[in-house]
Amino acid sequence: MPTNISIVLERRPGGQLRVDDFRKVESPVPVIGDGEMLVEHRLFSMDAGFRNWMNEGSGDGYLAAMALDEPVMSLTLGVVVESRRPDFVAGDLFMGRLAWMRFSKAGPDDFVTRLPHSLRFPLSYYAGILGGTGMTAWFGVNDIAKPRGGDIAVVSAAAGAVGIVAGQLLKAAGAHVIGISGNAHKCDRLVREFGFDATINYREENLDDALARLCPYGMDIFFDNVGGRTLNSALHHLREFARVVLCGSVSTYESADGIPVPGPDNLFEMVTKRVLLKGFMYTDEGGRYPEAMAALEAGLTDGSLRNAEYVLKGIESAPQAFCDMLAGKNMGKTLVEL
Ligand SMILES: NC(=O)c1ccc[n+]([C@@H]2O[C@H](COP(=O)([O-])OP(=O)(O)OC[C@H]3O[C@@H](n4cnc5c(N)ncnc54)[C@H](OP(=O)(O)O)[C@@H]3O)[C@@H](O)[C@H]2O)c1
Repeated sequence: MPTNISIVLERRPGGQLRVDDFRKVESPVPVIGDGEMLVEHRLFSMDAGFRNWMNEGSGDGYLAAMALDEPVMSLTLGVVVESRRPDFVAGDLFMGRLAWMRFSKAGPDDFVTRLPHSLRFPLSYYAGILGGTGMTAWFGVNDIAKPRGGDIAVVSAAAGAVGIVAGQLLKAAGAHVIGISGNAHKCDRLVREFGFDATINYREENLDDALARLCPYGMDIFFDNVGGRTLNSALHHLREFARVVLCGSVSTYESADGIPVPGPDNLFEMVTKRVLLKGFMYTDEGGRYPEAMAALEAGLTDGSLRNAEYVLKGIESAPQAFCDMLAGKNMGKTLVEL
């Protein structure tokens, strides 16, 4: 057996995440017991939400903070090497919530599910557009946004993994879709390659001014991945009966510990405009993953959905990949290929 390699969280970032907040560790390959299996990872999914669980107190009531000096928790995808569980055999492909390790033990609490042996799309799609990322976009759009033809929809972090799928799903449902991103090249690609009708570069134009210009009568849907000031601004530009999909809050995950993030200043307007604001976690919908995956596969097949990936290679590149994603260097899903 080769040596195992892990990337551990060496210290709490306390603000902007840095590559040297992590450390590489070598150790023996784990030995499994009854009810466990040994897996070898092939892909790590870089998920912005996991940044929140690197903080001392995650404060979101969902998961506790990651432990220091332990491998970094991550959604992963790989192959079973040895199994002492009745539900998996060696050679099965899986996805689960494990850690940045080459080899891991996987037990019943690691949310491991089996992938089919013959995949219709490249393996990496199942860590992104056909995995948790695509499901998140699909449930947010179908269960909360509920687009109707002609709706005006705005998506924040639109060039990111969830946002780029959400925008395309809204477009396929007949909405006029405006994407927010912090990079001119990504804005250009959203329109040219991913069917967005317009974009806003929040680093170059004041968001309020841009929303007033592009949605003079307000928006029907705001699919929010960013939270903070972005959400507050967007809430000033809603139409009556608008739906706000509270998907994530990436602008707030790196705020310094203990400093509260400013909240919306206009919630009474949500009352008078009869707006729906709804948060959700895609993991609540496990029983409906096949339905969501079938719909996403259909979109990829009929061409209404296109995939985008930003891939770094080698386990050592995981910290860099995660920092790159938070800094907006990615277009679509950020992955590390082992
Ligand atoms: N509810 C759920 O079940 C669920 C599941 C998965 C993910 N999520 C949420 O979905 C969101 C997107 O996650 P992801 O994994 O797909 O990441 P991602 O969108 O691929 O990457 C994050 C993007 O956010 C943008 N960004 C970073 N800091 C920002 C800031 N301060 N202000 C504005 N934009 C900023 C960057 O793009 P630009 O530079 O172009 O802005 C960056 O590319 C996150 O909030 C995550 O927590 C929710």
